[in-house]
Amino acid sequence: MSQLHVLNHPMIQHKLTIMREKGTGSKDFRELLKEIALLMGYEVTRDIPLEEVEIETPICKTRANKVGGRKLAIVPILRAGLGMVEGLQTLVPVAKVGHIGLYRNEETHTPVVYYCKLPEDINDRLVIVTDPMLATGGSACDALTMLKERGCKNIRLMCLVGVPEGIERVKKEHPDVDIYLAAVDERLNENAYIVPGLGDAGDRIFGTK
Ligand code: PRP
Ligand code: URA
Repeated sequence: MSQLHVLNHPMIQHKLTIMREKGTGSKDFRELLKEIALLMGYEVTRDIPLEEVEIETPICKTRANKVGGRKLAIVPILRAGLGMVEGLQTLVPVAKVGHIGLYRNEETHTPVVYYCKLPEDINDRLVIVTDPMLATGGSACDALTMLKERGCKNIRLMCLVGVPEGIERVKKEHPDVDIYLAAVDERLNENAYIVPGLGDAGDRIFGTK
């Protein structure tokens, strides 16, 4: 059964509150999103396997731990998921990056696929899917299905803000995928926007409105 992890560390909450404020401009919004992604990445990667290697310090030879085993891939859902990639890459510089392009139809609120480019060996990797907003859950569920169709077996979903409706949908359709959020908000409004939320994440990152 998929687990929900709400990463409500005080620094994450503080940064998220500034992001929510409507007066926060694109530059600050992007920087805060990047910083939160790095902080969340710390928890999302908490249990990745280590392997012991032999090294030599200036003092002596010793054995110490390095990240080994399963390799990582970061897959942002375009556009807004792109804002979380750099923070995760700071944490895991060797991670490969794939892209899934989806936008919500403005009337039906259902996702439409327009792009998919993934690393060739994606099926052998632990995949972290990023998207700041988990609203109806339609975009996340479609992205997870696309990854599974390409053989991915180990996937984690990392969003910033979710609502119960989207969380329940992912849990139901993808019970094997753990969900990581910085906050669980109240509900969706009549336009399927998260309340209180932070508005349209893509527009705020890229300044398109
Ligand atoms: C937003 C957001 C998610 C999706 C969430 O993207 O970044 O991908 O909506 O909504 P859902 O859970 O109801 O599917 P949007 O479709 O606005 O595209 P954009 O990132 O290109 O702006
Ligand atoms: N997409 C966003 O960017 N914001 C929302 O609140 C819901 C979907």
